[in-house]
Amino acid sequence: MNINGKKAIVFGGTSGIGLSTTKMLSEKGAHVIAISRNPEKLETLPKNVTTRKLNALDREAVEKFFDEEGEFDILVNSATGGSRAVGPFLSMDLEGYKASFDKLWGYTNVVKYGTKHLKNDGNIVLVSGSPARKCRPGQIAISSVGGAVEAFARGIAPEIAPKRINIVAPGIIDTPMSPLEGKAREDYYNNTTGNNLIPRAGTSDEVAKGIIFAIENEFITGTTIDIDGGWLLS
Ligand SMILES: NC(=O)c1ccc[n+]([C@@H]2O[C@H](COP(=O)([O-])OP(=O)(O)OC[C@H]3O[C@@H](n4cnc5c(N)ncnc54)[C@H](OP(=O)(O)O)[C@@H]3O)[C@@H](O)[C@H]2O)c1
Repeated sequence: MNINGKKAIVFGGTSGIGLSTTKMLSEKGAHVIAISRNPEKLETLPKNVTTRKLNALDREAVEKFFDEEGEFDILVNSATGGSRAVGPFLSMDLEGYKASFDKLWGYTNVVKYGTKHLKNDGNIVLVSGSPARKCRPGQIAISSVGGAVEAFARGIAPEIAPKRINIVAPGIIDTPMSPLEGKAREDYYNNTTGNNLIPRAGTSDEVAKGIIFAIENEFITGTTIDIDGGWLLS
């Protein structure tokens, strides 16, 4: 797909992986709507980018948004959705485990109401996460959610063809998703990536490059692209 001149909608497009994707799409000449709950935090906007305040979990608002926007070409969802439970399952608060699935509900709302307005040669990219297929201690909630996101995309790909849908699965990526600062942040990334084949956190641009690949390559659908520093082999 030639991105130049296309209309793209990026949920979670105001931070981290989504923001990098928004910037790359805009550099390639797309008109981008970057969506989040608090888009006003973006002080400067790249060329051809507008923002929209919308909660992916608000089903009615999502449907109304897509009905108003009409036809478009590219849909990316990298919105985290809400909270994430961390720790061993047996001692986990089950409400926290359940709330972690808000990411999935945000994705499914957006795919359900966005796909009917997506052009036939258009495509969708969702962001899962490496724990979907290699769960390390403490990651049972995000592993379960990521697995569901990947199964959802594979399962729906035949239903929406010729429209395409793919997944990008990041490993540990240095983004504003982690609230840690200074030495604590450095230690966290060293501890969680030190045993990877590429022993460092990835950047949001490295993940966005994978999202752009999935958008541009018209011969892939229903597949998962891992951008994880070798997480799955470590
Ligand atoms: N960073 C990592 O290490 C990592 C690893 C594996 C997978 N991932 C996945 O990659 C994706 C992007 O993560 P990131 O690191 O780029 O996170 P991030 O920097 O925190 O960005 C998340 C974005 O999602 C928006 N958002 C969250 N909930 C939303 C909702 N309910 N409705 C609309 N927008 C919402 C946020 O903006 P508002 O707060 O303004 O709504 C923000 O723009 C997520 O799905 C995450 O699970 C990340």
